Amino acid sequence: KSVKVFAPATVANVVCGFDVLGFAVNEPGDEVIMRLTDKPGVSLLKITGDEGRLPLNPDKNTVSAIAKQYLEHIGRPDAGIEIELHKKMPIGSGLGSSSASTVAGLFAINTLFDNQLTNRELVPFAMKGEELACGYGHADNVAPALLGGFVLIRSYSPLDIISLPFPQDLHAAIVYPEVDVPTKDARQMIRSKVYLKDAVTQWGNVAGLVSGLFMNDYDLIGRSMTDILVEPTRSILIPDFEILRALAMESGAIGFGISGSGPSVFALTKDAETANRITQKLQHHLKNIAINSLAFVSEVN
Ligand code: HSE
Repeated sequence: KSVKVFAPATVANVVCGFDVLGFAVNEPGDEVIMRLTDKPGVSLLKITGDEGRLPLNPDKNTVSAIAKQYLEHIGRPDAGIEIELHKKMPIGSGLGSSSASTVAGLFAINTLFDNQLTNRELVPFAMKGEELACGYGHADNVAPALLGGFVLIRSYSPLDIISLPFPQDLHAAIVYPEVDVPTKDARQMIRSKVYLKDAVTQWGNVAGLVSGLFMNDYDLIGRSMTDILVEPTRSILIPDFEILRALAMESGAIGFGISGSGPSVFALTKDAETANRITQKLQHHLKNIAINSLAFVSEVN
């Protein structure tokens, strides 16, 4: 028995919702091929597309390590599994790369074992994968990767995950300037204490963004996509961040910001054409300042 699973990239935080908001896109993403074998144990046969950056040790790689935890949970630690991981998106880009791999692996193993858990029940396993990858088990990439669409993590303890509605045809223009920003470092650089007045601004925006999604109010979504807590610090690592924002906004973006922990940036748009126009403008600017970039025109789904 063998399965091939794709899991999508995700945009975490959505600017104002650090660790509590995220959405999935139709592309890019990662692919996992998984087979049942007679030989007990989880083996990681090969990884492609990672330029040798990911660990092949099955206890250190998130896909195999979390597959093992799943097998223990369902009482089948003796099962034999072979895994191939095909990375089809950049690592350390802020697009939920580790999440896409872990989620593809979990979905695959759950399929091989007759869907004993629901996608929602897989979220805590996937969060352990994030902990392994970056030292903290945040859910704002893995929950949307597993459930699709826009997701709110109302609470981590107990875990309370809400799927949100979103306007039809919503797109994201995603641009990845090829500078390395590991999530672990990008988390360590932010302040752990905030002023109450800043918290008030921030939760006003989170509530505004969620309301905007419910009301299909692009204007409200856009003016809520501001972040005074995390973006001012992290944006320093992104080349010409303010210029990229200005270019995106003058080209018709609903809102603009850092994707996850960066360095990728994204703009939400009402349609694919606008997203396409924005990626072209941003890539053109990055090229002018000698920064290579990758871009994706993705549908929120
Ligand atoms: N919420 C996480 C962070 C997402 O900003 O560190 C990482 O992709």
